[in-house]
This record gives sequence, C-alpha cells and structure tokens, in this order.
Amino acid sequence: MAVIKVRNTEEIIKGHDQVLSFLEKQGVLYEHWDMSKLQDGLKEKFILNDQEKEEILSTYKEEIEDLAGRRGYKTWDLIALSDATPNLDELLKKFEQVHVHTEDEVRAITAGHGIFIIKGDEQTGYFDVELEAGDVISVPEGNPHFFTLMEDRQVVAVRLFIETEGWVAHPYQETEEVGK
Ligand SMILES: [Fe+2]
Repeated sequence: MAVIKVRNTEEIIKGHDQVLSFLEKQGVLYEHWDMSKLQDGLKEKFILNDQEKEEILSTYKEEIEDLAGRRGYKTWDLIALSDATPNLDELLKKFEQVHVHTEDEVRAITAGHGIFIIKGDEQTGYFDVELEAGDVISVPEGNPHFFTLMEDRQVVAVRLFIETEGWVAHPYQETEEVGK
C-alpha cells in the first residue's frame, strides 16, 4: 500500500481510502494489483531474464489489457533496477531531475519499491508517493515529477506507453523549492 509524504507540511497519508482520495484530488490514478498471483520465485527477484519478464507480463495480462483498454496504452514492457544494473547511479541521476512527459506515466510495481515525487496543486506542493509491490500509479500528462528508489534500491515495474517510442522525458525548470 502506498504511503504519501507531503514535503512542505511533512504530513503523512496512509491507508487505502485516504491515499486514494488524496491522489484523486491531485488527478493521479492509483490502483492495486493482486500480488498473490505472482509466482513466489519472482516476488523478490531483480535480475530477470527475458523468460522471467514474459512470465510476469503474462501473469498480469488481464490487468495490463484492462488498463490499456481504458486509458489508451499501446505498448508495455518491464523494467528491473537494482545494484546489479550497470550505471544505476547515473540512471538515478537522470530519473531524479524534475521533468514532464507528453503522455501520462504509468507504473505497476511488481517487486521492491519506488518513489514518485509529484508536483501537486499550489496549496499542496511536492509530495512523495512511496510505492510497493501491487501499487499501480499514473502521473498525469504534463505534470512535473521525478522518480527515485527507496533504501532497498531495487524495483521491478510494468511500464505502459501510448507513444510507441517509450520513455521520453522533457526537463522542467522548477522555480520553487522542491523540498527535503
Ligand atoms: Fe517521468
């Protein structure tokens, strides 16, 4: 279950209904996948071969096709990051820049953790959404945000795209304090 931390006020929001209601107000899609469907051997595995990636994608085929049908995604893939990823620190530096996309950025976490730091409305400012396996989130199109890992420094996530060229980020020049 996701946990939200509002950077300016240090408010922490927990619990499904509270998290859902906060994110709905900010225009952020939040859903949940049943992680018990995933075979045990893939729940804590962060170095995945193509066959294992296919296995995860086929386990959640129904959920992926449902999301794609509702929201227009045309392609999807699986990303795995851990200390075994070459240049992890360089990749994280890139992910940690505030940026926007010309489509919404949807991620379904299937193992490990990740944090999206999202610019909320004027009153709220930036807030962290800490995600764990089963959490599905979508940052709205054009909404400034960035992504990083948590202390475990490992994540596996399904990414869905409308544009067929995959992940394209456009830098966003922030004029206010991002906080923390
Ligand atoms: Fe992004």
